[in-house]
Amino acid sequence: MFSKEGTAKDVKTPRICDVVWHDGEFIKWNDARVHVMSHVLHYGSSVFEGIRCYATKRGPAIFRLREHIQRFLNSAKIYRMDHPWTLDQLCNASIELARRSGMDQCYIRPILFRSLDEEHPAFGVNPFPNPLACYIGAWDWGKYLGDEAIEQGVDVCVSTWNRLTANSMPAMAKSGANYMNSQLIKMEALLNGFAEGIALDDRGYVSEGSGENIFIVHGDVVLTPPLSSSILPGITRDSVIQICQELGITVKERTIQRAALYVADELFFSGTAAEITPIRSVDRITVGRGGRGPITEKIQKVFFEVTKGERPAPGDWLTYINEPAQKSTDNNGFAGAIDEAELKVSV
Ligand SMILES: Cc1ncc(COP(=O)(O)O)c(C=O)c1O
Repeated sequence: MFSKEGTAKDVKTPRICDVVWHDGEFIKWNDARVHVMSHVLHYGSSVFEGIRCYATKRGPAIFRLREHIQRFLNSAKIYRMDHPWTLDQLCNASIELARRSGMDQCYIRPILFRSLDEEHPAFGVNPFPNPLACYIGAWDWGKYLGDEAIEQGVDVCVSTWNRLTANSMPAMAKSGANYMNSQLIKMEALLNGFAEGIALDDRGYVSEGSGENIFIVHGDVVLTPPLSSSILPGITRDSVIQICQELGITVKERTIQRAALYVADELFFSGTAAEITPIRSVDRITVGRGGRGPITEKIQKVFFEVTKGERPAPGDWLTYINEPAQKSTDNNGFAGAIDEAELKVSV
């Protein structure tokens, strides 16, 4: 039907944790299974998170765990998933899973979904009759956009697919169903020889990558689309904003036109999986001098020093899994946006 050359490559996964947390207990990886008639498989009814645990000198440390779990709870709330789990319980479960994995570093994946009650099966779209199931798995995951991407940058395209509209599929919820849109963006990019696609929102402004937020550097100013451009309120995005503020780099949330991508001095993606990945071309137009720009490099350097525990973070960002719980602030300084006023209108 079409050439799939080069599209079957996945992110390197050297190890998978052999236990999975399920509704309060640890089960074997092989026992973490669902019925094929589960609501989630037919109607996309899941919410999930992606969290990285980094290797540091003080042992593995989970990056911005509470903020990720808070977003998980927010996603569940938007989809009226009435589960019993608290922020603390899910944080502790993630910490315990990371400990049991025995890995120095890993990626943690909590997921909550509508399952199937085999004794009283319900097959309609109405999700309410179906039981909820919550699982957390973990694996060691390599560089999401390739090993070289972090230094050399990636070649991307603007997708012909738009990002979700705020009143159809809310992009601020990290729901499994949103990733059908992401898959359209990603497949199109890969089949056309690009590493990733950038989606525009329904008004034609820059939104985000299929699995990353985007930043644009113009002169000495860093810009990123606001939440109202149908983006996921990325936790790495928030970290970049706070790092810029700490470095004295001006950072603003602004609606961004597609053409601004072509004339940017620098562009980069941010995300838990992609971390901070420079973009070296868009639609085969070279960005700046065609590699990692100096501001991107500066932000990236601080980000990696922080995640490795080599430099103090602007907030309480690392949870060392082998140390007694540290006192943390309510939101660990997570604003999700630069300007609280803007955040309120955007959300
Ligand atoms: C669509 C989308 N946007 C942005 C992001 C970045 O979010 P975060 O930095 O919280 O991982 C992700 C990553 O999960 C994503 O899937």
